[in-house]
Amino acid sequence: MAEWYKDMSFYHIWPRSFKDGNGDGIGDLAGVMEKLDYIQRLGVDGIWFSPLYPSPNADYGYDVADYRDIHPDFGTLAEFRALLDEVHRRGMKLLMDLVVNHTSDEHPWFQASRRRQEPYTDYYIWRPAGKRGKHPNNWDSLFEGKAWEWDELRGEYYLHLFAKKQPDLNMDNPAVRKEVENILRFWLEKGVDGFREDVITFISKTDGLPDDRLMPAVRGLRFYSNGPRLHAYLKQFRAVTDGYDCMTVGEAPRMTPRKALAFIGGKNRVLDLFIHFEHMAADCFMVDYLRRPFSLRKLKGPLSRWQRGLRDKGWNVLYLENHDHPRVISRYGSEKYRVESGKMLAAMYLLLQGTAFVYQGQELGMTNLHLPAIEDYPDVSARHNYLRLKAFLGEKRAARWIKEGTRVNARTPVQWTEGENAGFCPPGVEPWLTVNPNYREINAADQENDPDSLLNFYRSLLRFRKEPVIRYGSFIEYCPEDRQLYVYDRAYRGERILVVCSFTEQQVTFREPYSLKDAEKLFGNYPGLTGALRPYEVRVYRLRKEQ
Ligand code: GLC
Ligand code: CA
Repeated sequence: MAEWYKDMSFYHIWPRSFKDGNGDGIGDLAGVMEKLDYIQRLGVDGIWFSPLYPSPNADYGYDVADYRDIHPDFGTLAEFRALLDEVHRRGMKLLMDLVVNHTSDEHPWFQASRRRQEPYTDYYIWRPAGKRGKHPNNWDSLFEGKAWEWDELRGEYYLHLFAKKQPDLNMDNPAVRKEVENILRFWLEKGVDGFREDVITFISKTDGLPDDRLMPAVRGLRFYSNGPRLHAYLKQFRAVTDGYDCMTVGEAPRMTPRKALAFIGGKNRVLDLFIHFEHMAADCFMVDYLRRPFSLRKLKGPLSRWQRGLRDKGWNVLYLENHDHPRVISRYGSEKYRVESGKMLAAMYLLLQGTAFVYQGQELGMTNLHLPAIEDYPDVSARHNYLRLKAFLGEKRAARWIKEGTRVNARTPVQWTEGENAGFCPPGVEPWLTVNPNYREINAADQENDPDSLLNFYRSLLRFRKEPVIRYGSFIEYCPEDRQLYVYDRAYRGERILVVCSFTEQQVTFREPYSLKDAEKLFGNYPGLTGALRPYEVRVYRLRKEQ
């Protein structure tokens, strides 16, 4: 079993918006190739790619139409191989996204399944209509209305936990699991180093697909989240990946540290890591677009709980952003104190124990988009959830919540320069999604040579993560009740790192948990040291015991 990921950091690329290499307004592999120096200089050890496969883009790549090829928008398999070689030549790793809870409805398997062509007839979850055409059960889809869609051709309903164009695979069918094994082997034989497994904790549905009578926010969720055969199926896939030097990280909504250990802990280990969501709900109810004011305790509670819960038993994933959430500065920090809060947030999570992920543009302090109309935000879930919210919140508030909470905020093109199109694509070409108009103030070129830039702060932190105290150090939190400060330390072999983060624009005083008389200041986002903490100040102290 691989262990190498434990002191690594990964850069997460959402390829459509990273860098356009051939001038058609869409990010691609050629663009990634151009930016490998940049990625490596950031100090990360590998790349996780959101899906690169052919897809009709109902959910931008998370609706896969062919598991064994590269989307022509992004390039070719040959280009992918060349990129993989180059990544390896630089001593870095590459993770693919494995999306097997569902496929695109345009996948040949689904097209054959609709026509009851063997062996595909039972590849998906088909059910006849109930009395008077009723749905097979009362489950909701997470993205688009009810979880069932009628198919004329087959004369049955199919289950889709996400968009209508994302039918769920029937993982209880051994032939489907064989397909998954073969997809894993296909990419492992090409040399990839691991997989991020999309909503993998949803692949096993409760027998009989019972109605959900509890009626929580999303009906059905408890009948497919961490379902009955999840562990067995993951174990089967693990037998394949164990034949290679491979790491696996599963996306796991509604995961807790205790539940996690049944999958990533000790002898139960069928995945190496989980991307859990608990710390991503500090300013919302369950999902990003149900807004509420930011609460620091809802952020540090989960972060600390996971640090303690997995200690010596599992391993954490550390992240604050990805392609599914708004930009973190706009959520947990402050656009007004953009650089200060960006640095504070970076130190806050990167000094914890775990394998770290940095999402494209996060290292530049990119922020949310502020566009006039809801129609300006291209996303199936934003569109649908807007309609749902509008019914009980009214147009204005619904629009505000969606704009603040939509993942489109994280999907605007990366801002490389202050030139037209932010250097994402050539001048005169229209980027597939609007560039955030703040690119003249926020772009990589400006930050490259500024020693105080957020980009350079990320670089120093990512380098520092190689210190043993980050990988092995203990974790103790101080003043957990405090509503403005997150304070913790890490200690290992006579060295102690104290991290003090302020989450407010007020000045706040902080009581030293122990004397800092002999401490050195390792990182900070303001010059010097004053008594009170300044807006969004972070201070990282190092103490060394005489030995
Ligand atoms: C995961 C992906 C998200 C996608 C969904 C359905 O949550 O990260 O982008 O829309 O699964 O595949
Ligand atoms: Ca392109």
